[in-house]
Amino acid sequence: MARRKLVYEGKAKILYEGPEPGTLVQYFKDDATAFNAEKKATIDGKGVLNNRLSEFFMNGLQRIGVPTHFIRRLNMREQLIRQVEIIPLEVIVRNFAAGSMAKRLGMEEGTPLPRPIVEFSYKDDALGDPLVPEEYIIAFGWATQQDLDDIVALALRVNDFMAGVMHGVGIKLVDFKIEIGRVWDNDFMRLIVADEISPDSCRLWDIETGRKLDKDVFRRDLGDLADAYTEVATRLGVMPKNATNITKPTLIN
Ligand code: TMP
Ligand code: ASP
Repeated sequence: MARRKLVYEGKAKILYEGPEPGTLVQYFKDDATAFNAEKKATIDGKGVLNNRLSEFFMNGLQRIGVPTHFIRRLNMREQLIRQVEIIPLEVIVRNFAAGSMAKRLGMEEGTPLPRPIVEFSYKDDALGDPLVPEEYIIAFGWATQQDLDDIVALALRVNDFMAGVMHGVGIKLVDFKIEIGRVWDNDFMRLIVADEISPDSCRLWDIETGRKLDKDVFRRDLGDLADAYTEVATRLGVMPKNATNITKPTLIN
């Protein structure tokens, strides 16, 4: 493979310069981290699964008119995306109490919320991605009030889509995180869904059994993460069973 210019390396993905200006190649690693990278592991097949799942969700969003950075998948681990200017916020949507919200408010995990709640964390690993009020976001110039209104509208559309898709395969969408990017078409700025949408950034519970099918399996040592993600991919018809377990060339009749 020709050497490509590395643009950015994160905990789970690498961005390379794309083939055309305004594009990037997004590479999905097998690395898993939690609690601000205090806990780390390599999980065979995770990158392949998240590449496929993020493609599936981003394509679905585009089909219902939600703009995303996704252009096309290139191979098992890479996809071509539009280059965006990332807004330094983790946009979190919650349907049921879990994780940091359950802890902060002393709620039992799984308690239904009166309506979907959108919240923002400031993207800063050193600070542990602290929750920030809209006042901070506007005062510090990370986004304007108009941007925030647009981001909340986008996030709720993503929530409706994701919750519906998941419900169709017997999975409850407890919460998720998205990131939003700015793109310019001439002088006109638009906000689009960027980064990834995968079980790394969602809480997904089996509706019947409550089994966790997301990164909490890793965070809380609940079993095999790749098994959980494969279950999600298989239910969605995104990936045939055992597709990530192929380790050597096999004869295809
Ligand atoms: P939390 O309960 O830890 O605040 O997380 C809420 C949801 O957002 C959960 O699905 C995990 C996701 N999330 C990320 O993917 N990355 C992050 O940095 C944060 C803060 C949350
Ligand atoms: N904050 C996220 C988590 O708890 C991501 C990370 O810390 O790496 O999983």
